[in-house]
Amino acid sequence: MNLTILGIESSCDDTSAAVIRDEYLLSNVMASQEVHRRYGGVVPELASRAHQQNILPVVSQALDQAGVTMDEVDALAFTRGPGLLGSLLVGTSFTKGLAVASGKPLIEVNHLQGHILSHFVKVPGAENRQPKFPFLCLLVSGGHTQIVRVDNHLDFEILGRTIDDAVGEAFDKCAKLMDLGYPGGPVVDRLAKEGDPKRFRFAKPNIPGLDYSFSGIKTSLLYFLRDQLKEDPDFLKNNMADLCASFQKDLIDILLKKLILAVKETGIREVALSGGVSANSGLRGRIEEEGRKRGWNTYLPALRFTTDNAAMIAITGYYRYQRGLFAPLDIAPISRSAEYGDR
Ligand code: KG4
Ligand code: ZN
Repeated sequence: MNLTILGIESSCDDTSAAVIRDEYLLSNVMASQEVHRRYGGVVPELASRAHQQNILPVVSQALDQAGVTMDEVDALAFTRGPGLLGSLLVGTSFTKGLAVASGKPLIEVNHLQGHILSHFVKVPGAENRQPKFPFLCLLVSGGHTQIVRVDNHLDFEILGRTIDDAVGEAFDKCAKLMDLGYPGGPVVDRLAKEGDPKRFRFAKPNIPGLDYSFSGIKTSLLYFLRDQLKEDPDFLKNNMADLCASFQKDLIDILLKKLILAVKETGIREVALSGGVSANSGLRGRIEEEGRKRGWNTYLPALRFTTDNAAMIAITGYYRYQRGLFAPLDIAPISRSAEYGDR
């Protein structure tokens, strides 16, 4: 059919643009914002400003790398939300401006749907294994933790979700408590490889059904460190790898317990993992291991499609285009996912 979609993502601290033609990725350009590191977290005002600086060069680079001109683009897909309002405003306003200037239709994309559909981005020359419908997706990011039943590209049902912190937040807060910087997930992941995961145990939540909770385990780590540091000021320094390995293992246990329950309850054995935390090597290994043991078909995204990227926005735009789901030019971003009817 030859459908070409330009995707633009700006929901948090990465500015990204990608071009997709008939499900195949032609380019995926990313500008990460380093300015937040020294503050130990994303500073919304600085994020918006950096998006403003990055967005035009990132979009033109994505078109250049794809070898595509604006004339050849069929539609513009952008992240409408959820995310930081200021960041979303930059992407939304830019895409709307480009739509007016080029006369191309606009397509709004829910960032979380994008994470899930990242499994359908085809890379030329790669194996491109894709989950079959219906499948379960464990969506784990900095802002969300959900088990989603996916019936087709655009129809989903959230079966379980966190009632407080997201698992990515638990990684980031744990790293902050241990002075490991931001974002914490990748550092904890790296240190955990050298530690003993059975050395320490933290409080596990007891939440009914398929919902999650991660605030208790974070508090449990906080009190544990406070008590240990009173007796031994070097406790952190001398036990960092074991602490990371144990904390990470407990988080993975919590995630897996509900995922296994979801498979039992639905009878669906196609299981995919998505979102920033799906880059975690411990989690990837455990899902594959459980999958082998339990007869699931498991799908792990390529590392570059785990954290925020515009390829996932473009592919979602591709499916929405086929259903004629275009957005009006007066569309506004949505910051909180509750306004989308989920959380
Ligand atoms: O999907 P994402 O890029 O942004 C959101 O939509 O939130 O996810 C970011 C989250 C952060 O909390 C970060 O610490 C976590 O993903 N993350 C990881 C790893 N890489 C990124 N968590 C654990 N292990 C990793 N290797
Ligand atoms: Zn994300």
